[in-house]
Amino acid sequence: MEEVFRLDREYLAQTYKRLPVAFVRGKGMFLWDLKGKRYLDFVAGVAVSVLGHADPELCRAISRQAGRLIHMTNLVHIREQVELGRELARIAPGEVRKFFFSNSGAESVETALKLSVKHARRRKILVAENSFHGRTLGALSATWKPSYREPFRSLLLPNFQFIPFNDLSSAEKAVDGDTAAVMVEPIQGEGGVRVASPEFLRGLRELCEERGALLILDEVQTGVGRTGRWFACEHYGVEPDVVTLAKGLAGGVPIGCTGARPEVMDSFQPGDHGATFGGNPLACTAALTVIRILKRRKLVRRAERMGEYFMRGLKELEEDHPCVREVRGKGLMLGMELDGEERAEEVVKEALKRGFLINATAGNVLRFLPPLIVEEPHVDALISTLDELLGKVGG
Ligand SMILES: Cc1ncc(COP(=O)(O)O)c(C=O)c1O
Repeated sequence: MEEVFRLDREYLAQTYKRLPVAFVRGKGMFLWDLKGKRYLDFVAGVAVSVLGHADPELCRAISRQAGRLIHMTNLVHIREQVELGRELARIAPGEVRKFFFSNSGAESVETALKLSVKHARRRKILVAENSFHGRTLGALSATWKPSYREPFRSLLLPNFQFIPFNDLSSAEKAVDGDTAAVMVEPIQGEGGVRVASPEFLRGLRELCEERGALLILDEVQTGVGRTGRWFACEHYGVEPDVVTLAKGLAGGVPIGCTGARPEVMDSFQPGDHGATFGGNPLACTAALTVIRILKRRKLVRRAERMGEYFMRGLKELEEDHPCVREVRGKGLMLGMELDGEERAEEVVKEALKRGFLINATAGNVLRFLPPLIVEEPHVDALISTLDELLGKVGG
């Protein structure tokens, strides 16, 4: 493994703070590193591998499609893309019925921003503090964290305004006749697993309605069953005008997707937007297969049940360990806020040594995003390891 770490330093951009491990193989909930050590995966490629690793049905579908047609230009019609659009329309919230496919979460956000500005013929976008929408320039302009933004400030777009998350009265003051859209995550992921309050999300919906702005929900991390619903907005009974998806949608094959009400999506005309790889047959087949498997194995409802089970375990830890400030989240998107960044970092490192892959975000929040196939014994194993580690680092 040391050789991989060395080559990483020599040949790769050092943009990631990587854990000292490299995996070569996965199966279901498990990963194996270069030395053959086995780990339980509670990160799932950051909410990507919803079916776990090497799902045989997904592998077969990808391999069959690769043998037929991997890529096709959007200069022609693509059968797999329209099939995926139809399938997504069946599960999408509210009146979202038309889709544009790209390759990542950030691209799906860029698409949503362009679409909103074109549709509303207005300039301003309202976003929330602690938001994370991606690293490309439009998405970064909508992302809150100063350390991500500052070095690139001269390139960021104007017309983005931040309001405190879950503060409806600030939104009421900020949305005006020049606001094209309000964009929020129903549960802020990178920002520390912060759950939108029903009053906030429903209030934003009403406010947008009232003042003629669009409501964009960024479901890149929360979408595709992660929170125990296909889309997290279903927990709130809130229907977006525009929604973004990526991560879990194709089970690990890169894809981005922006959905909108037809009337909104039809504001895009030929030439307004495009992506060479967007919606290629391979990615679309993978996404179609993921959705069909999630439906057939009822994994979305299962994510809700397993999330409740997981949450109970985390709550018990909260009671027993004073270094735990709060546990929060929905379904299988859960966070445990500790009272210090070093503690969180220490827990992640120690967990890795014990064969558990977990993540810390926003500095001091342990984040759990397992594949939706996670089972009770996996959760039990993690909870007892966390119990030991929190006792050790908690002082
Ligand atoms: C809510 C949200 N939006 C957008 C993104 C950006 O996605 P990507 O890294 O695929 O560009 C992320 C990534 O974590 C995300 O969580």
